[in-house]
Amino acid sequence: MKDLGAKAFSYGYASPVLMAATYNDDGTVNVMNLHEVTRTNAGDLACCIGKPKKTHENIEKRKAFTLTLANESLMKEIDYLGTVSGYNVPDKFERTGLKAVKSKHVDAPVIVGSPVVIECELIEFVETDHFTTVLAKIVNMAADESVLGENGKIDTGKIGMIFYESFSNSYYRLGEKVGKAWSEGKVFMG
Ligand SMILES: Cc1cc2nc3c(=O)[nH]c(=O)nc-3n(C[C@H](O)[C@H](O)[C@H](O)COP(=O)(O)O)c2cc1C
Repeated sequence: MKDLGAKAFSYGYASPVLMAATYNDDGTVNVMNLHEVTRTNAGDLACCIGKPKKTHENIEKRKAFTLTLANESLMKEIDYLGTVSGYNVPDKFERTGLKAVKSKHVDAPVIVGSPVVIECELIEFVETDHFTTVLAKIVNMAADESVLGENGKIDTGKIGMIFYESFSNSYYRLGEKVGKAWSEGKVFMG
């Protein structure tokens, strides 16, 4: 194998594109593009958010935010929301033409038209040099009926979710299903 060095990992392998929505001090909505999110062992979320982001300040103040799984139809809006900061363009969310309503569960906005939204409350900030790991409790998850399968569970194929791939700095769709988890490996069981 060829060693590429630690920096080659860059922003990491392909991960879902999420929209982190928060309220500003005046009650207007701010949204940023966020892909560095993972579920922790306890069923909480760990989100890697830069300290200089408006979203960081808003979460610190309101202790809440929502995450929308972005789909392909929202790609231009989400890319814009990840390019400009609410500090420089306070009405950036309004400019996209998207609308939001207040979450029923947390003090944060829910983007109208979200296929899937995760409503979160802040547990704590773990601060390092440039980024903060925002540990958050999942208070609720809501999905548009159109993305539910016959069993009432989320059908990922219906979301149209997109992934950010940092090696090529591009967005990708979800590919084909290739196997069943906790099942394919059974060939090695005696
Ligand atoms: C594809 C993409 C993924 C991004 N992922 C993250 C991320 O995981 N964490 C982060 O802090 N910023 C990330 N950003 C950058 C923020 O979205 C960007 O700095 C945004 O302008 C911050 O907005 P705010 O200052 O209004 O909160 C990403 C941007 C793009 C385009």
